[in-house]
Amino acid sequence: MASGPFSLALFLLQIITVCADAGIMNAADDYQKGSYGDAPAQRYLSDPDIWSPIFNAPIWNRSAVSIAKTPHLLMSLEYESRMGPYLFSSDDLSLIYANRNFAFVNNVRVQRYRGETVLTFWEGMQGKGHAQGVCVALNKHYEIVFNVTSSVSFSADADLHECEVTRDDTVLITIYESTAVYNLSSVGGKEDDVLLDSCFEEIKPDTGEVWFGWRASWFFHPTASYHDYEPVTHNGWDPWHINSLQKIKEGDYIVDLRRAHTVVLINGTDGWPIWNLGGKGNDFEDLSDGQATAFAWQHHARFLDDDLTQLTMFDNHQLEWEKAVGCTGPGCSRGLRLELTHFPEKTVKLVEEHLAPSGLGCYAMGSYDALPNGNSLVGWDSQAGFTEYGPDGTAVMDAAFGRFNTNVRTYRVFKDTWVGLPNWNPKLALDAVSGNVLASWNGATEVVSWVVMVANRRETLVSIDSRSGADESATIHAAKKGFETSVAVGGALDKFQYVRAAALDVAGTVIGATDLVNVADGNCIEVASLPDTRGWLAVRFGADPD
Ligand SMILES: *[C@@H]1O[C@H](CO)[C@@H](O)[C@H](O)[C@H]1NC(C)=O
Ligand SMILES: *[C@@H]1O[C@H](CO)[C@@H](O)[C@H](O)[C@H]1NC(C)=O
Ligand SMILES: *[C@@H]1O[C@H](CO)[C@@H](O)[C@H](O)[C@H]1NC(C)=O
Ligand SMILES: *[C@@H]1O[C@H](CO)[C@@H](O)[C@H](O)[C@H]1NC(C)=O
Repeated sequence: MASGPFSLALFLLQIITVCADAGIMNAADDYQKGSYGDAPAQRYLSDPDIWSPIFNAPIWNRSAVSIAKTPHLLMSLEYESRMGPYLFSSDDLSLIYANRNFAFVNNVRVQRYRGETVLTFWEGMQGKGHAQGVCVALNKHYEIVFNVTSSVSFSADADLHECEVTRDDTVLITIYESTAVYNLSSVGGKEDDVLLDSCFEEIKPDTGEVWFGWRASWFFHPTASYHDYEPVTHNGWDPWHINSLQKIKEGDYIVDLRRAHTVVLINGTDGWPIWNLGGKGNDFEDLSDGQATAFAWQHHARFLDDDLTQLTMFDNHQLEWEKAVGCTGPGCSRGLRLELTHFPEKTVKLVEEHLAPSGLGCYAMGSYDALPNGNSLVGWDSQAGFTEYGPDGTAVMDAAFGRFNTNVRTYRVFKDTWVGLPNWNPKLALDAVSGNVLASWNGATEVVSWVVMVANRRETLVSIDSRSGADESATIHAAKKGFETSVAVGGALDKFQYVRAAALDVAGTVIGATDLVNVADGNCIEVASLPDTRGWLAVRFGADPD
């Protein structure tokens, strides 16, 4: 089956196995009614372990979406066994990288660490609202660069909410620590209650050295919370709920406390708040009739500049699950961009407010990524969707990766530039129906085209030196299309016994090759080394593929 728009008949099953990518759907009603299941998904013949969502995009203005400056869309997926870091192409939302070998994963991003571009995320055991795990970074070969959790000063491991590399090549992690015998009577609890404290730590990954550690309970009172007290049996009650961190130039920290409705600048020397934006201790005059400081249950507070004047965040604004869809007016979840002044007065005003085109309300999670071309990407994350807005606030992409009001979700959605050069080989499969060869390379970002090589002697496809014997052979060149490229080989599989595919980059250089496959049984028979194949291609293959 060719990629592109495809027939609805394919969706009788929730997961479909495709020959080449299914493409983006535009079937808003059917998709959200659940005609294709909660999480419409596809699997690939060439790499059957991989699962990826089929996106539904009611709004998709390709000419206005950020592609060139941010070729990749990054997210984690949270649904049944399909957890993991995921990368997609910004151009067509086709899959680039999936890895289901990790446990629960959150917050997949591109960051810089010691001059190297790394793929970072949190991985660990999921809890209710918080978790225990590690903040990891992978290099371009998808090898672990660091794996950081909290120091022995804390009785809990790194929580899922943050995994931020600082300008000092340290890592910021959130920690949720239970403190037994804590007096919560001021908020309706017991005198000998259990507190779930909001903490963070700054750690140097290579040495494990701790630069800074902080506990909200040292500086905040539980009465700062807007959340009703709830008796909690084991972990304790969580009045503040830390969920994002950023280190600023002066060495202080931007800390987001969701249940206190406040973004705080924390002094990096003594831990005390320098100022509060929003919440009960708000220090800023709201120049937008209260709309700039009215955020609530918010996530992902990020300053875009060193002067701390441009702040973005995801304002969940509500906790009610049942208000999840159909929100239109004030009080809906929104992506927020605020402008602050600090001297001579502390003021804040609303610059941008992005509501979901489909009226989503999100009681949990969410993200706001300010893109380099001036667009903004908002993740509606307890809802399975994200929206990109142009500089004028017009939605240029509105996409879902599952049904709203289900358990399909992600934590944050980002767009960035990633170079992935996997240390594993590409894969191929033979499509018995079309007679095509299907090629894919999970995690590879640099593949521009594929060359399929067929021959009757296996040596022909192994080494240039063994090519000398008379053997009929052929090469077929095809541009990469989506995750799994379907290469029409003109009946070659009837004539030849062995097949192999090589991946070419933009310069036409072979950057990887699949195992050699025996056409008769479709089985891989050996792994041949890449340098030999490169030589083979240099001779066989002209400079200008079609
Ligand atoms: C898509 O975006 C372009 C550039 O912003 C704009 O000119 C065009 O009108 C948009 N098309 C649609 C269908 O909205
Ligand atoms: C991180 O390190 C811990 C402790 O060595 C290990 O148990 C865990 O598997 C590692 N996780 C990853 C993703 O490497
Ligand atoms: C607990 O806190 C309440 C309210 O702040 C206070 O009145 C009470 O004395 C405290 N109890 C103890 C044992 O400290
Ligand atoms: C941070 O704390 C240190 C030590 O208490 C103090 O000297 C400094 O002025 C504080 N910085 C700000 C910006 O308040």
